[in-house]
Amino acid sequence: QKNSYILAIESSCDDTSAAVLKNKKVLSNVVATQKIHEEYGGVVPELASRAHQQNIVPVVHQALVKANIDKKDISAIAFTRGPGLMGSLLVGTSFAKSLALGLNVPLIEVNHMQAHILAHFIEDEDEGIGRDEEIGRDEGIGRQQGSKGRKGKNEDSSVPEFPFLALTISGGHTQIVLVKHHFDMEILGETLDDAVGEAFDKSAKIMGLPYPGGPLVDRYAQEGNPDAFPFPKPKVDGLNFSFSGLKTSILYFIQRETAKNPDFVTENLKDICASIQKTIVGILMDKLKKASKQTGITRIAIGGGVSANSSIRMALKQAEKKRGWTTYVPKFEYCTDNAAMIGIVGYLKYQEGLFANQAVTAKARYGI
Ligand code: KG4
Ligand code: ZN
Repeated sequence: QKNSYILAIESSCDDTSAAVLKNKKVLSNVVATQKIHEEYGGVVPELASRAHQQNIVPVVHQALVKANIDKKDISAIAFTRGPGLMGSLLVGTSFAKSLALGLNVPLIEVNHMQAHILAHFIEDEDEGIGRDEEIGRDEGIGRQQGSKGRKGKNEDSSVPEFPFLALTISGGHTQIVLVKHHFDMEILGETLDDAVGEAFDKSAKIMGLPYPGGPLVDRYAQEGNPDAFPFPKPKVDGLNFSFSGLKTSILYFIQRETAKNPDFVTENLKDICASIQKTIVGILMDKLKKASKQTGITRIAIGGGVSANSSIRMALKQAEKKRGWTTYVPKFEYCTDNAAMIGIVGYLKYQEGLFANQAVTAKARYGI
C-alpha cells in the first residue's frame, strides 16, 4: 500500500501547530506557544488570532523541513475546524483551504475534541526524522516537540480497543466519552460550567500564580500535603461535572485566611496546591468509576492538556491494579494542543475518503 503524508494544522486556541504524519507515524510536530497571554492572565482572543497569523507560515514551513518532505509529496491537508476560538480557528481554516487548493490535494476537517481522543492511535517510531532541535524561541515559537527521551506511545505501547471510555480534560472541555469507533462517539457526561483546566488555572490565579497555572499547581502539589485543606466536592447528578462551586470555595477560603494572615498563600502554597489537586482529581476519578460501572467498560483513555497532570496519571495507574482497568495515557506532547493529533485524525479520515470541500467553514461550537 502507498504511503500517505498528511500535513496537519491546529489553531483552535493559543497554540499554533503544524505536523506531518507518514501514515500513523509523526515525522514532525511543531508547536508555537503564544507567550503574550501570560501578561493578561488568560487567552485574549484577538491577540491569539493575530499571533496565529504571524506564526502559521513559519510553523508550517518548519514542520515540512523537519519531516524532510516537499510540498508536492503531501497527500492531504487536515485542519482543526472547531471547537475553539472563532478568530483563531479562522486562521488555520483559511490557511488549510488555500494550501489544499494551491496544491490540489484533499482537505480534511477535524474536530479538536475527537483529536484529543484519537491521539491514542498515533504510532510513534523510536527515532523521528529531525525532531529533536529547538527552534527560534525569540520569534515567539515556544516549543518544539521531539521524541527525545520518551519512547512508545503509551506506558504499555498499545492502542485502545473499541469500545473504550475517554476522559477529555482541557482548558475548554471536560467530557466522558463512550468511543464506539473512530468516528462514532457519544458524550456520557460533561461539565455544566467551568472546564477542569479552568478550575486549575482560576485557582492558580487566585493564588497569584501566572497563566496557565495548571502545570504550576501540579508542580507545587508534588511537595505538598494533599490533606492539609479539605475542599468540598460538588454534588452533580449522573456523569456530569461542575467546577465553579469549587473555584468559589477556594476563593472564599483564601480570602478568609489571607485576612487573618497576609502571607497565608506564600507560606502554604504547596499544601494548598496539593489539596486543590487532590479534590479535582478525586472528582474526575469518582465520575470515571461511575462511568465504568455503568457501561461495564474497563478500558479508560485520557486526553487533553490536563492529562499531563501527574496526580491523574498516578490515580489511573492505581486503578489498573485496584480495579483491573487498562488505562491509556498519551505522551506529554500529545496531551496539550498539538497538530500531530489532528494529523492522526486526518490519516484515519483519509483512509475512509472523508474529505471536506472548499465551502467548509470554522465552527466555534462543534459537538463531538
Ligand atoms: O488541551 P489544552 O492544551 O488546551 C485546550 O484545549 O484547552 O489544555 C490546556 C489546559 C490548561 O488549563 C492548563 O493549565 C492545563 O491544560 N494543564 C494542566 C497541566 N498541564 C496543562 N493542568 C494540571 N496539571 C498539569 N500538569
Ligand atoms: Zn485542546
